[in-house]
Amino acid sequence: MHMNKTEDKPSQTAQFAAAHRAYHLMHDRPAILEDDAAGWLLGPPLSAILHSAPLRWLFWRPLIAKVRPISAFVVVRSRYAEDCLGQAIGSGCRQYAILGAGLDSWALRHAESGVTVFELDQPATQQWKAARISSRLGAAPAHLVLIPIDFEREAIADALPVAALGRQYDRTAQALVSWLGTICYLTRPAIAKTFASLAAVCATGSRAVFDYFQPKAAMSAADLQLFETLDAGGARRGEPMQTLLEAGEMAEILAAAGWRVVEDLSASDIRRRYLANRTDGLDIPGFARLCCAKISPA
Ligand SMILES: C[S@@+](CC[C@H](N)C(=O)[O-])C[C@H]1O[C@@H](n2cnc3c(N)ncnc32)[C@H](O)[C@@H]1O
Repeated sequence: MHMNKTEDKPSQTAQFAAAHRAYHLMHDRPAILEDDAAGWLLGPPLSAILHSAPLRWLFWRPLIAKVRPISAFVVVRSRYAEDCLGQAIGSGCRQYAILGAGLDSWALRHAESGVTVFELDQPATQQWKAARISSRLGAAPAHLVLIPIDFEREAIADALPVAALGRQYDRTAQALVSWLGTICYLTRPAIAKTFASLAAVCATGSRAVFDYFQPKAAMSAADLQLFETLDAGGARRGEPMQTLLEAGEMAEILAAAGWRVVEDLSASDIRRRYLANRTDGLDIPGFARLCCAKISPA
């Protein structure tokens, strides 16, 4: 079964994720991530709500109160991916593949990086994003390649080689892959197949960074309530959660697909790395994990 019943519409979870990043930059100090493109990329109605104090008070405050830890995690997972990308660039990587990119704005904030960015997402979400970029910038930057895909039905190895604007993904060169906020919305076979197909197009030295959620049985009562609120919202928008995984299950999927875990951070690990010494109490859900994997040597 395919996950997104509204696949002909732009993903609303992607729009909310961008709204969380925009709100974070407006509201939280110190900022964990400076996504200063999220606010305009977002578009109406969420951009109008975020940029008007009365509308923020009326609509955004009650919403954020219910899902604050999720909102924080949306920001932290992007920061993690961008930290890993910074390290990869330092070791010579010039290709960044963003799976389930949504309104990720790294490419728009790093026009001079020399990195070609391949964004893979469902066509409706990409078309909507492309229209937002055109209305603001006139055209998409040349180093950004949008590749439509449905992870439930298509193999990444078939989709990724598509060249656009003279930019071609190079299977022989190191790449960094991020896959944020998407795995939980896919079926387990689609997750396993995508990792396997990804391994086929990633040269030695390539890494994949992604987040996933642990099963309900391991959640505290407060986390379970938070999860149910999040899942109910996603389901109402046609994007229900499909797959929750224990760390051991994730490692098995990765190993079978040709990947080896570099690190798999629990919520406590993530808090120590990104939330220590804050005075605003910003926190993430206990069920969230961030993982980095690399291609296993043959
Ligand atoms: C919660 S959003 C996350 C977007 C972005 N990575 C972020 O962190 O803001 C989930 C993204 O996964 C994409 N997605 C969901 N199911 C998909 C599928 N079967 N094939 C391709 N993309 C999918 C959605 O279109 C959406 O952009």
